[in-house]
Amino acid sequence: MRSAIFTEVIEVYEDPDRASHRVAELIVATAQQATAARGRFDIALSGGETPRTLYSLLATEFRARIPWHKTHVFWVDERCVPPDHVESNYRMVRETLLDHVPIPPANIHRMRGEEEPERAAREYERLLRDHFGDAAPRFSFVSLGMGADGHTASLFPESPALDEKERLVVAVYVEKLRAHRLTLTPKAINSAARIVFLVFGREKAEALRIAFDETSDPRRAPTKLIRPHAGELRWIVDRAAMPNNS
Ligand code: 6PG
Repeated sequence: MRSAIFTEVIEVYEDPDRASHRVAELIVATAQQATAARGRFDIALSGGETPRTLYSLLATEFRARIPWHKTHVFWVDERCVPPDHVESNYRMVRETLLDHVPIPPANIHRMRGEEEPERAAREYERLLRDHFGDAAPRFSFVSLGMGADGHTASLFPESPALDEKERLVVAVYVEKLRAHRLTLTPKAINSAARIVFLVFGREKAEALRIAFDETSDPRRAPTKLIRPHAGELRWIVDRAAMPNNS
């Protein structure tokens, strides 16, 4: 536990499938609570490989338990490519989840990766402010991943985006990928009611060790900047990703 003002929980599962089921259950529970309390469930989703099983579960086994008409889907980050590009996070979520559930198209709020990055970032910030009002967005649920280099969303180690205190969405140039990305900032993520990191695989163990090390520098471990102001932070990890797992 890093701070008394929010709850941090770490859960370890035998394999990615069990871990993905657990997150699907958490999403169902959060959707039910949020729609009962506010009439709406606002969820922000990540791209990458890790959540594919989760999204497929939501589209099948868990489909009937989510109030899709009251659900609004946002993205945590996006690659600066058109929406039908193989690297598009929107495309991945559409193919694994959105094409298979009765969510109204107006409830799908994608980042416009095909536009000039700075303009797309500002547009998405405007979209968030329209949806949530002028306060920081209070997502009901944010689903995050972590790269083997410790990045989360598109907040990479040493990126200037880590210091952003005002904006909700920024465009970043990622030198090692030679690519632009759009990403929510820690400010946009930290007002969420529930934030879940989903981390699988042995290749993430060293990054996880650094993320859990009290003394490590957040510039090396951007996940340390994710600290909900008044919510819950949960790590759902498979055994292979746990540090010291030999
Ligand atoms: C993206 C993500 C990113 C992802 C991590 C982990 O667009 O790539 O949103 O933050 O969660 O890179 O990716 P994997 O799940 O592929 O390991």
